[in-house]
Formats: sequence, structure tokens, C-alpha cells
Amino acid sequence: MINCESTALKFRYSSSKKLLEFELLDQTLLPHSEFWIQILNTTQLIECIQSLRVRGAPLIGIAAVFGLAQAATQTKSTDELIKIFQLLYESRPTAVNLMNCLDLMKPLLQEGTDVQKYVDKAVEIFHQDVQLCNSLSHYGSSLIEDGDQIITHCNTGGLATAGLGTALGAILHAHHSGKKIHVYVDETRPLLQGARLTAWELQKHKVPMTLITDNMAAHLMSLKKVTKAFVGSDRIAANGDFANKIGTYGLAVHCHFHKIPFYVVAPSTTVDPDCQNGSHIHIELRKNSEVMGFKGHLGETQWAPANTLCYNPAFDVTPAELTSAWVLETGIFLKKQVDQGIFKKRNQS
Ligand code: MRU
Repeated sequence: MINCESTALKFRYSSSKKLLEFELLDQTLLPHSEFWIQILNTTQLIECIQSLRVRGAPLIGIAAVFGLAQAATQTKSTDELIKIFQLLYESRPTAVNLMNCLDLMKPLLQEGTDVQKYVDKAVEIFHQDVQLCNSLSHYGSSLIEDGDQIITHCNTGGLATAGLGTALGAILHAHHSGKKIHVYVDETRPLLQGARLTAWELQKHKVPMTLITDNMAAHLMSLKKVTKAFVGSDRIAANGDFANKIGTYGLAVHCHFHKIPFYVVAPSTTVDPDCQNGSHIHIELRKNSEVMGFKGHLGETQWAPANTLCYNPAFDVTPAELTSAWVLETGIFLKKQVDQGIFKKRNQS
């Protein structure tokens, strides 16, 4: 029996019993309800990816490879699997982890529909992400000192990965190694991943924290309440520019003005060596309704007038110049090393 379990994903497979169970924690219902959705097919999985029931760059990639393994149990046609592969590949455009993880499964499509091979590869990708999180959290944590007051954006923890997390992984590692820290959590408009998800995770780990709305960050910095910023990423370009949740760029600008170190923490599965710089990153545009109001566990409300023209990019690009260091599972890298081409090669680890 194969059994993979993380904060937001469960996968069980028994070839002898012909049993496959795949569940995702519905993140749109957090923190009020911890409801696990049973994933039965690819259409349902794609709906979960697009509605952010499952989210976070590394976890989207992992959910997709388990989805492909599940599809292999449901079809004997390689052509059908290739179609499913393509649908998953295109389900969200910005996080390159989705494409990078699926690319690791691609050779299997040449070999047919042997379920065990798909399951084994997906499980390997899951465990690799746990290792990546451990290693990059260790490096990220080494940048954190007793007394640090850290600001973070969106959710980059166990809900976004198979392991401890990326930026939040570093913060949790520091906390669990006894460092006295305080975390300021940006609520992260419009979908509130900070207020709903990061606050939930930090409370579970008993990390001292304060929730703020995104537009309070600069004020807090002017009061000298923030000593460091840690964020995650959905795609790091070859020159070090990186995409992350909308609002990250603004946070980086504020940090630069206030001379606050600004760190991006991500596994090498987030690096896109084929992407020359941030201007080539495809930024996902989402529905107006997410800006005009909110739909969630407490119901649906719209505060903007009907037919208001909206703009809703889910991510923005932070230029390399504003980044103090890039923290990967292989170490901490400075701009000089990025300029020497560390992100121009595939497979850092
Ligand atoms: O739209 P989301 O919630 O999937 O966006 C997530 C982020 O932007 C995270 O910061 C990023 O994926 C890094 S997660 C370890």
C-alpha cells in the first residue's frame, strides 16, 4: 500500500486491492471548515485547481501528477492520457511547477498506461518536494535571527507544498528551532490567502503573529516594526525576476525604500530557465467578481456597483534588483551569482 499524506493532500494506492484514493483539503473553505474533497476524475481536479481549492505553486504540480496517475487507472488509451496531460498542463498558467512536475511524467506517456509507473513517479515527486522544503527551510531559517519581525505575503506553507513550505517553511523552521520571532501576515487581497490560510497555519504552529491588510505594510515599515520580508514564488526567470502573488512587487518596493532585506524562497522546481526575464512570464487574469466582492464559506457579497470595470491579475513580477537573495534547496544566492547564470540551467538539485 502506497500512502502519501500532507497538510492538504492525501493519496493512497493499493495495486493488489485495485484501490486508489485521492483527496484534497478544500482551501476555499478554510479556516472555518476542514473539508476533504474526494477527487474522482480529471475534470473535478481541474475545477479544484482553477477555483484554488488546491493552490500554491508546488502543490498544484503535485496534485496534477497524482491526477495523471489516477487517470492512468481509468483509461487504457495512451491518446486519452496525452489529452488529460495537456488539460492539466494548461489548467493554471503562471506557476511553472505545474509544467515542470508534469514534464517529469512525460516520458511515461511514450510507454503506455502502466498504472504502477505513473503512481511511482508521482510518489517520487511528492517525496522530493518534502525534501526540497526541508532543505530550503533550513537555509531560509539561517537568515532569521532572534527578535526578527518578519512580513510575509500570500500562503507559502504546508497548504502550498507537500512539506513544511517555502517562505513559511523558513519561518516555521526558525520558530521551531527556538528563535523568538514575530510574523506580520499580509491578508493578500483579493482571495485572502494570508488572512485565511497563513494565519491558520501560524496559529497551528503557535507562531506569534499579527494580521494586517496589504496597504498597512509601508506604514508598519516606517514605524521600524519590520526587519525582514520572506515571500514565495510561482516562477523564477533566468535573470532572477520572479512572479508571485499580486502585491509581492509592491511589498518589495516598500522594503527597498525602507532598506529591509527582501528574500524569495522557492524550490528549483519553480525555476524556469527558458524564461529570459519577468516580462515573459504569463500572468493569470482572473474574474472581475473576485475584485468586486467576495465568495466563500460565509456566502457571497458584492460591494462594487454592477458592471464595474475591473482588473484582476493573480500575480505580479518582482525585478531581480529588488531581491536581497534567492533561497533554494541548494543554498542562498546573491544577485552576482544570478547574473553568473545559476538560473539558466535546469535541475539545480
Ligand atoms: O493563487 P495561489 O494561491 O496559488 O498563489 C500562491 C502564491 O502566490 C504563492 O506565494 C506561491 O505559489 C509560492 S507557494 C510555496
